[in-house]
Formats: sequence, structure tokens, C-alpha cells
Amino acid sequence: MSIEFRNESFRDDFTYRNSPAAIKRFPFPFAEDEYMYSVNIEPHTPGRPGSVFEHAFDVDEHYVSEMRDRAMVLAEDPLRCQSLPHMTLAGWDLLELIMESKARDYPDLFTLTKNGNRWHWINRPLGIDQKFTFLDETTLPYGPMEYITRQAQGDFTLQDQRDDDLWMEAGMVTTQADWSLDFDIGMRFHEWHAPVPRAHQLGVFDRALKFLLKLQHGAPVRRFNWTMTVDPLLDTSPENYPKWGPSRASLTPENIGRRMHLRVELQTLFRLPRSNAIAFPIRCYLISFDELVTVPKWARRLHRVIKTIPEDLATYKGFQRNRELMVNYLAQHDDGAPTSPGW
Ligand code: HEM
Repeated sequence: MSIEFRNESFRDDFTYRNSPAAIKRFPFPFAEDEYMYSVNIEPHTPGRPGSVFEHAFDVDEHYVSEMRDRAMVLAEDPLRCQSLPHMTLAGWDLLELIMESKARDYPDLFTLTKNGNRWHWINRPLGIDQKFTFLDETTLPYGPMEYITRQAQGDFTLQDQRDDDLWMEAGMVTTQADWSLDFDIGMRFHEWHAPVPRAHQLGVFDRALKFLLKLQHGAPVRRFNWTMTVDPLLDTSPENYPKWGPSRASLTPENIGRRMHLRVELQTLFRLPRSNAIAFPIRCYLISFDELVTVPKWARRLHRVIKTIPEDLATYKGFQRNRELMVNYLAQHDDGAPTSPGW
């Protein structure tokens, strides 16, 4: 099935919207009426046709516009993409993984032809036709990680594994929920997670790291994370906080349904074959409250989650100041009916 790509903006006039089909496949992340951090990791196996899990790397109607937004962020701030010198091989691993996956899963959009190390990549939505030599950086316009992540939705970090730890040592990060690659690069697993409340005490990070150190090639896993964003802004970075931070103070009962967005991250983890690094794609999906409440069971559940979430989590996620407004809006869409666990 071919995708109709939307021409939309994630800044200024914010013309980003979800089509009815995109709302239907939105990855609503809550399995219960309450939320707490956990090691919510499951195998990243192909899901229902049409779902965001159908393929290893989901391509949707926002693809072309998201890639345009990424190019704009990079033009303003090249440090959003960094790769320490020893991570180049992991970059090639990632390029291979994404090219092979996309060419296999979306043959009408992407084609990869190999003749030994001489590869030919065609990306039709972005109008790219590139011949290059695999593992030879001089044959691409950018390093391998930058080249392929300029053509793939979501952020990406690459972690080297040594000393029984994971080290964030490369990444393309332009659509992040208020953290900085430039700040975190060179840190290890517990260090870059230091600002997260409660999860350290709950043992979430100890267990997650132990699990990830044993991640096998060919057996990727996934998890969800979520937060809230005012306006469909992809680049909620600390670097640009002065531009977007004040928008949190501009919500009203009249505009909250249109402007407040649930921001869901589908995070996947892949062991890479040559470098033994771990790739961590973080794919961001945005849905406005007005769009979300068109699905009554989501509206009910989100109301209960936001109402009951502990204050330190709401503060960390940046919506404590707007919580009452959010709960009041969502309460109009919660008839009190019971919800079933697990969907
Ligand atoms: C938050 C990176 C894997 C759980 C974060 C943050 C970063 C990050 C940069 C933001 C921290 C800040 O506030 O500055 C990564 C990377 C991973 C990884 C690169 C893989 C190598 C995991 C795993 C889990 C996890 C496997 C749990 C099972 C969390 C949680 C938060 C978080 C609970 C707080 C999110 C929120 O409330 O919005 N992670 N993470 N992370 N991470 Fe990870």
C-alpha cells in the first residue's frame, strides 16, 4: 500500500495533523488506568498489518515533512549529530540495517541493490539516488550514520559496549523530549539516566542494563516511553528551550484540546553485527488531545492516568503546571465506564 505523504510543519504555523487512518494506528501506550515506570521491554517482532509494529522501521504519512524539519534543525545546530571516531563502524551497521529493512518492507519506496561492496540506494519519497562503496566513507556525502538518519524518522543513538556498561558515543537527535546529545555524549547508562525520578530506586535501570548487555543480534526489542508537548513540535531540545518552554504558560481551556499533544516514543534496541554496538532508535508519534478523544477508550484511560500520576513524574515530564487544565478537558470525555486491562 503506497503512503500519501503530508506536506506539513512542526514549527511556526504548526500545520501537522494526523489523518483518520493515522489516528487509528496511533501507538496508545497505556495498558492500565495508572502509570509507573517499569522494565517494559518486549521482542520487536512484526505486529498487525497496518500497525506501527508491522515493520522494523515504520514509515508513515509524516516522513517527508519530518525529514525536512530534521534538515532545518541540523542547518541551525550541527551538534545535533555527533559520532566519536571509533563509532564509524557502528554507523555502517546502522546504515545497513535501515537500508535493508526499508528496501524489504517498502519496496515501492526504497530499493537497495548490492554488487559486492558497491551498493546502489534509491529513496523515492526524498528523491535520492546514491551509488556508494559500503565501508568507504569518502563515497557518501556524510558519515554513514548521518547519511541514513537524515532519511529515517525518529532519533537515533549508538551505544558502545565495554566494561559491562553502555556508552552513548554517537547519535542523531533532533526530535527529543528535552534532553541533549551534546550534553550526554560520552556518558554511560546510569549517568545519562540520572535525572529520571524514582526509576533508579525501583531498580529499573539496573535490570534494564543487565538485560541490554546480553541483547543478541537478530533479536531486537522495544519499549514505549511518553510525555506531553505543547504544539506539535518535534524539536523540544534543551538547546531551544527559550523558544518552546514559554508555550507551556499559554494554554487555556479553549485551546488545550488543539495544542496539547501526547508524545509517544516507540523505542527499539538492536544489537549491531560488526561493531557489537547497540542502536537505539527513538521514534516519536504526536497526537493532539482533540484527535485522541475521538477514540473514547483512550480518552477515558488518559484522563485516569493523568489524574493519578505521581507529582514528581508529572514535573519531570513537564506538565505539572497544566495538569488541572488537562484533567478538566479529559474529564468531559470520561463517562466513568470500566476499562479493560492490557489493550
Ligand atoms: C529517559 C536514553 C534505554 C528507561 C531517558 C533519557 C535518555 C535516555 C537520554 C532522558 C534523560 C534526561 O532526562 O535527561 C536511553 C538510551 C537507552 C535507554 C540511549 C538505550 C541504550 C532505556 C531502557 C529503559 C529506559 C531499556 C527501561 C527499561 C527510561 C525512563 C526514562 C528514560 C523510564 C524517563 C522517561 C520519562 O519519564 O519521560 N533515556 N534510554 N531507558 N529512560 Fe532511557
